[in-house]
Amino acid sequence: MMLDDVQALARVDQHDTRRVLAELPRQCRQARELRATPPIAVARPRLVVMVGMGGSAAGADLLATCAAETLEVPILVHRGYGLPAAAGREALVIASSYSGETAEVVSAVEVALARRVPVVAITSGGALSALATRHQLPCVALPPGLMPRMALGLLVFPALGALAAAGVAVASDRDVDEALEVVTTQAAHLGPDTLTDKNEAKRLALAIGQRLPAVYGGPLTGTVAYRWKTDLEENAKLLAVAGAVPEMNHNEIEVWRGAGARQLHAVLLREDGEPSEIASRFTLVREMLGPTAGGVSEAWARGRSRFARLLSLVYLGQWVSYYAAMLRETDPWPVPMLTEVKRRLGAPGREQPRASP
Ligand code: PA5
Repeated sequence: MMLDDVQALARVDQHDTRRVLAELPRQCRQARELRATPPIAVARPRLVVMVGMGGSAAGADLLATCAAETLEVPILVHRGYGLPAAAGREALVIASSYSGETAEVVSAVEVALARRVPVVAITSGGALSALATRHQLPCVALPPGLMPRMALGLLVFPALGALAAAGVAVASDRDVDEALEVVTTQAAHLGPDTLTDKNEAKRLALAIGQRLPAVYGGPLTGTVAYRWKTDLEENAKLLAVAGAVPEMNHNEIEVWRGAGARQLHAVLLREDGEPSEIASRFTLVREMLGPTAGGVSEAWARGRSRFARLLSLVYLGQWVSYYAAMLRETDPWPVPMLTEVKRRLGAPGREQPRASP
């Protein structure tokens, strides 16, 4: 498929995912205004546990990574049933589930209620919303109609607001303003109307081609690499690997020596100002992988603040996964296998949402 052929894209992208992605800046601005009801009344917790699965955990990863270098309050991202033992009464649980029907998140909230840990819910409805109403938990009500991974702004900004309300400031207003400017600029350059030679996301998707992508971040962009992997898997239905430097230097790098390396394409997620040790390792990785790999590309974060940088890389990855889906003539919106797992496990059925008008 020609990625510049807008009509061909429309034939494959039957749920108008391209419009939802293009509207991310607007979604973020809308989400920034959302508040919990009833208001959050928690003094600064000793620990924050952000609970979510899949697309609803991605925002938590981003915030935990932002906080890691500057905040004394640890933020754990918990993907699974229940809660870690460390989540006691002095903790705060932020439970995110876009649909509100995710069993693991509901179970975490039930455990939090039993342990009397304060909870904030972020959801568009479902069992999580019902639980929040029943127990009068602060809840941020999200507009429905999106796929969770495409509701990135709706999941990140209310969580950021909830953390700030609890005295845990992960990003300043200035950082948030900058991040919004950065994604607005990106939106103007990454969509289908921008031709391939000027469109970084199209070029990256074409560079990956039919190979298996292996996305590597640094110590902080490693969580973004994981988000690229899951977007490539859910949107393009393409298996992907995620890792981080320096850890991959201690294990995964061996894979890149063998004949199979020709079937792999490495994408390195970089940022200006990364520590010099990390920059040298990326240079080394590039040199060593170059001769054997199917290809090696780099993608650079935009912006000055950590929040803007991480968000910009996630947004770029969303578009790369979109074009990778187009190259496979795959509609990025539906996730039939994932839906079937939930159906078989008895999660309350939901119609496959369409992009909201
Ligand atoms: O992107 C997706 O659709 C999934 O990864 C979901 O986010 C995941 O299954 C959890 O569902 P929810 O986000 O509704 O809690």
